[in-house]
Amino acid sequence: MYRDRIRMPSLESKIISPQAAAAMISDGMTIGMSGFTKSGDAKVVAPALAERAQHEKIKITLLTGASVSDEIDSTLTKAGVLARRMPYQGDPTLRKAINAGEVMYVDQHLSETVEMLRSNQINGIDIAIIDATAITENGGIVPTTSVGNSASFAILAKKIIIELNVAQPLGLEGLHDIYIPTHRPTREPVPVVSPDSRVGTTYIPIDPSKIAGIVIADKRDNPVKLEAPDADTKAIASHLIEFLKHEVKVGRLTNRLAPLQSGVGAIANAVLHGFADCPFHDLTMYSEVIQDSVFDLIDTGKLVFASATAYSLTQSCWDRFYANFETYKKHMVLRPQEISNHPEVIRRLGLIAINTALEADIYGNVNSTHVGGTHMMNGIGGSGDFAGNAYLTTFVTKSIAKNGAISSIVPMVTHVDHPEHDVDLLITEQGLADLRGLAPRERAKVVIDNCVHPDFKDALRDYYKEALKRGGQTPHVLEKAFSWHTAFRETGDMKKAF
Ligand code: COA
Repeated sequence: MYRDRIRMPSLESKIISPQAAAAMISDGMTIGMSGFTKSGDAKVVAPALAERAQHEKIKITLLTGASVSDEIDSTLTKAGVLARRMPYQGDPTLRKAINAGEVMYVDQHLSETVEMLRSNQINGIDIAIIDATAITENGGIVPTTSVGNSASFAILAKKIIIELNVAQPLGLEGLHDIYIPTHRPTREPVPVVSPDSRVGTTYIPIDPSKIAGIVIADKRDNPVKLEAPDADTKAIASHLIEFLKHEVKVGRLTNRLAPLQSGVGAIANAVLHGFADCPFHDLTMYSEVIQDSVFDLIDTGKLVFASATAYSLTQSCWDRFYANFETYKKHMVLRPQEISNHPEVIRRLGLIAINTALEADIYGNVNSTHVGGTHMMNGIGGSGDFAGNAYLTTFVTKSIAKNGAISSIVPMVTHVDHPEHDVDLLITEQGLADLRGLAPRERAKVVIDNCVHPDFKDALRDYYKEALKRGGQTPHVLEKAFSWHTAFRETGDMKKAF
């Protein structure tokens, strides 16, 4: 029945029910599931596992590529199945359990998880569960709409369960480029030399005897919700584009710029959208996710090629993707996240990296993960992989949040994901701070002058003046450094601090 999808005939006998697959999972196991920003996630076995957990105690460690759909994180959290989770999530139910201390969350740079698995620094994968388009003649797995960590999960796992997704078109085959780095310390250079380099196979090469079961899935990916660009995000995009035009004018870049990387979320999508209306051309991307705006840039001919590990799309963009699939396929490749986010390749290609901050401080330190310094939002994702190694590391944020009760530019960030050493540009709708080559005292002036909302500007200037009296390379008034956050926690408004 599935001859075109299971091309190794001996594997046809491995077809089992989701319940039989879930029964292979025991208490205490480490499970590696496919899925990255809700694309290509294994959606069938997880609900069956949650069902089983109604009657017996099962706690697992769950690894994925990045955030996954409700069927996985929300369902497993509600069923009490998750003991430990890594390396990224974006689910409100799971977020609550993490912040209540019920799930141990390991927030990791996304390029690092499989390196740690490969070198036995963390517990190995007992079972990999992978959403697949097809199984090749030699038993290789053709992924669906993400690669994420699936390749190394499958290669390193003791057993593999394949969710053969008949809702995904067979034409997805050929979209992927699976390259697995060799072992250290004798590793060869990763041979990616441009965003469109193809250096691996179109399937995940595995030992087919490890396939313990094949479950038939029949569901495409869940869409993401995305706010449309607004006046603030358009202003952020326009500051960045004006800056890049200047870089072209002074000869540091050409109108082709450098390969772009753009993070997840509404702001990053809107900023990329801004490139549709600019003088740059023949752009390329070497990024982690492909969001809706990339399709607009391809359609207008602005962007010629996008390399990523996954999609993160709204429903209308998924519809557009499937309707014009063969055309888009020529402009895209999906790689393992270890390669899409590889420090060596990021440094080699010289990326312009654009990621989103929750908050930044006057010296350019960035917090992308911890609300108020304590509560996890999503995770660092790949932002650190890119920020530490890009040609131009940019962080964007609106200058205020929660209707103006929060300033996103604060005296001192309450958690540091990206230290001042990595941050070249900070952009809000108010303006852009070019921090390259500046010492902390110079950075503070530029950040306060250019990025802070008028409601907070005088207070931040006063803070900095007082800090200067204390001296230092990076002046602070330590007893007041978090007073804005404390005021927000106690009164619901940072402005109550001054
Ligand atoms: N303090 C508290 N909350 C804040 C805040 C601050 N300084 N700034 C923003 N927020 C809140 C917003 O109010 C919003 O809350 P809501 O969900 O209740 O409406 C939420 O954070 C998201 O902010 P939003 O402005 O909608 O931005 P976004 O959707 O672009 O997400 C991040 C921003 C930082 C959460 C998101 O980009 C992220 O998780 N980044 C880390 C991972 C990453 O960069 N990955 C890409 C690597 S390739």
